[in-house]
Amino acid sequence: MKKDNKRKRRMRLINIGFLSVITILTITVLFLIIHSFTSSTSASPNRGKHQSADRSKTEVNIHSKDSSIRGINIVTETMDDQRMPFSIQYPKSEFENFNQEVAVYIKSLKKDYQVLNENSSRDTHGRLNVTFETIRHSTGYLSFVLHATKTVSNEDSIMEVRTFHLNPETGIMPTMADVVNHNAENLKRIAKIVRDQIYENTALQNSLIIDSVWQPTEPIWANYRNFALTDDELILYYATGVMTKRQAGPVQIEIPWKDINPYVAKEFQVDHVVERQEKKIALTFDDGPDPHYTEKILKTLEKYDVKATFFMLGNRVQEYPEIARMVADAGHEIGNHSWNHPPLPNLTDEDLHHEVQGTEEAILQATGQHATVFRPPYGAVDQRVRESSKLPVVLWNVDTLDWEHLDPEKLLESIKTDLKENSIVLMHDIHESTAEGLEAVLEFLKSQNYTFVPVSEMENY
Ligand code: NI
Repeated sequence: MKKDNKRKRRMRLINIGFLSVITILTITVLFLIIHSFTSSTSASPNRGKHQSADRSKTEVNIHSKDSSIRGINIVTETMDDQRMPFSIQYPKSEFENFNQEVAVYIKSLKKDYQVLNENSSRDTHGRLNVTFETIRHSTGYLSFVLHATKTVSNEDSIMEVRTFHLNPETGIMPTMADVVNHNAENLKRIAKIVRDQIYENTALQNSLIIDSVWQPTEPIWANYRNFALTDDELILYYATGVMTKRQAGPVQIEIPWKDINPYVAKEFQVDHVVERQEKKIALTFDDGPDPHYTEKILKTLEKYDVKATFFMLGNRVQEYPEIARMVADAGHEIGNHSWNHPPLPNLTDEDLHHEVQGTEEAILQATGQHATVFRPPYGAVDQRVRESSKLPVVLWNVDTLDWEHLDPEKLLESIKTDLKENSIVLMHDIHESTAEGLEAVLEFLKSQNYTFVPVSEMENY
């Protein structure tokens, strides 16, 4: 009885083993048949998940040739896969760091392209096309500007630009930090100029999305990754749809070096001949807006056709938004002067954030525009305070002490005493005496042929 049972059980085990083998073999054969079938029909679209397995079999053609620059090769990779063809051209140098950086980018481009294609339900074929141009700077730096056009269906063509930089003699790869001499304040000043240029660019006027300009131009290093250095200009690149309507394509902004001379490292400065030294002066009014005197000051400025800068307090903007707006509408520059006027270095991170960002928001809400400069109360500033705002910190070099003497006649006197080249004059639009003394100040400065500029246009503040 026991033996019988044992044999039966063994027979059953053998049967199960045999069946398993048959099953596995069948599945394998079926898999092979299906697989070879799908491979042979690789031209048909919508093949779903098998794609990646097949693609690795599709041959990528790689070839490399010398460029006209010593030490730089041009590599071309092409693949004729019907659904995901690409043609990619990129530079290769003798420096591994550089090559690695380029390779990482190319890899991510291919990956994005693949994902885009797989998510596309359309039958049309995609296309990835990468070309590049090489721009030389007299320092020996090369800027490689890669233009990548990704098309998934006929309608969706996205062009992005990515730049790489190298001195092929030394292997140095300059970044924007090198360009602005590793000074974040310099980047802030350049950001301001970039924005102004974008807003004023007539070629962009019809396609620009005003609200989309601020963010991609914020002075953080990542925003200034894509640039090229020519002997005359700093060029910045923005992908399709970043700040303009998509049909307008990518945007290229050219900033002449002479416009940013004080904010760039020596090697990029141009020895610009100063055509007839222009005498510039910037008038600044702090601590407003004020319900009694700001408007009077605006009227006097208008009479002399002078543009000034108003450093506003957040709490006053909140209280008198219509006056803040009046200042902005008259075309004056708006600055952030904190919320409550405390010495900012003493504050906790949280309070500092409120002082600066709260004011930023109040100004934006009241005037519809961002402040473009930042003046910490009492001129009290340290590294942490500088970093609390993305705006350049602007102090002054002529102090009228208008809050102390409260004497309209002393306003002009104090300016005359301290007047220098590139004066930045500190006044307060919350005192009657200042509003009253302003006319004499403007009369005098005009007679001396001063040009009045918003403070952010002064070269050294
Ligand atoms: Ni103040």
